[in-house]
Amino acid sequence: MNKKLEFSSLILLLQIMTPTNSLHNGLALRPPMGWMSWERYRCITDCENYPEECISETLYRKVADILVDEGYKNKGYEYVIIDDCWLSKSRDENGNLQPDPERFPSGIKNLSDYIHSKGLKFGMYEDYGTKTCEGYPGMIDYLKQDSNKFAEWEVDYLKVDGCNADTRKMDKGYPELGRYLNETGRPIVYSCSWPAYQEGEDMSPDYASIAKHCNLWRNYDDIQDSYYSLMNIIDHFASQQEVYIPNAGPGHWNDPDMLIIGNFGLSYEQSKLQMAIWAILAAPLLMSTDLNSIRPEYKDILQNEDIIAVNQDPLGIQGRRIFKKLGIQVWTRPITPVYQTYYSYAIAFVSRRQDGVPYPFNVTLQDLGLYYPGGYKITDLFKEDPALVRVYKPESIIKFRVKPTGVVFIRADINN
Ligand code: GLA
Repeated sequence: MNKKLEFSSLILLLQIMTPTNSLHNGLALRPPMGWMSWERYRCITDCENYPEECISETLYRKVADILVDEGYKNKGYEYVIIDDCWLSKSRDENGNLQPDPERFPSGIKNLSDYIHSKGLKFGMYEDYGTKTCEGYPGMIDYLKQDSNKFAEWEVDYLKVDGCNADTRKMDKGYPELGRYLNETGRPIVYSCSWPAYQEGEDMSPDYASIAKHCNLWRNYDDIQDSYYSLMNIIDHFASQQEVYIPNAGPGHWNDPDMLIIGNFGLSYEQSKLQMAIWAILAAPLLMSTDLNSIRPEYKDILQNEDIIAVNQDPLGIQGRRIFKKLGIQVWTRPITPVYQTYYSYAIAFVSRRQDGVPYPFNVTLQDLGLYYPGGYKITDLFKEDPALVRVYKPESIIKFRVKPTGVVFIRADINN
């Protein structure tokens, strides 16, 4: 037998025989989409004064109803995810996690069944440390027992936070927990806050390992309800893009945190900006807003099919910021269709300028690195500027204007 062949078959055999330590759960092949309570509802536990807003089974049931009735589910939003403050302050006599009995009187399995009966998926929150960030029981001494409990409750997605934990132990601890989740045999999307806490302590997270063991991971600070917070996260992702981008792909994603569209802090233009950049970043689309009272124009942003299609592009390549000057930024993401060596692209033109006049752009596609000789079909993803929509050669000039703190978001499809 040829020596080289012999060697490679041996490697293959070893790979088959060695139990793999990585996640490989076949989940999250596209960035997860759904709804998560934290940013909007935080830790409201006072159901007497805030019956509509408190963290209770009623809230999640209502969200499930609205996702279906208002068309969100049809657009791809499928996970209903409970965040912190669902737990009772102590475990039961057998050490099991239990929900707050007053706010979740029917129990978690019942809620899970309800969400599943709507054709949706069910997500929960825990913490790798001794306590969650809001002081409820953490998982640290119960990793296996809790994994089994989550599987028993038929959880489909688990966000594992990292408050009150030793960040140096996370490199081993998060993979260990992932293993227990896998061993339950239930497919559970595994969201890790591991790098966010390590970056917070100026450590350099081992992203190769994180991408191997988690389906998605929070890299950075929590999003708050403001343009300032949004831009702070966007700037951070741009500054770290060479580190972050190589780890993103089908099954494993960087997570810049929830969508705050529809809340109090962002204007209409700024909301479009978040949707566009989250699509460029191949970010999970986890809405955290009151879907019951959301204004129609914000709902339209969240349900924009063309932008969701960019976000969910099957190549799963995370985009990058390619230009930044005088308050103007350009972001691009390679997407399908691909022809020969040429990609199609999503392109976001961002203005952070606050001088009131929409900022005029005159660009060519080749300025942005798009050289396919047959040109590109341009689509305006927010459908605002009909003049933009046609075929452009790489050298033709494209003209448009971007509103203050807003975005123009286009896709350029290979024209063949
Ligand atoms: C941390 C997380 C948030 C949220 C809260 C809950 O701050 O980063 O996303 O889960 O904890 O306490």
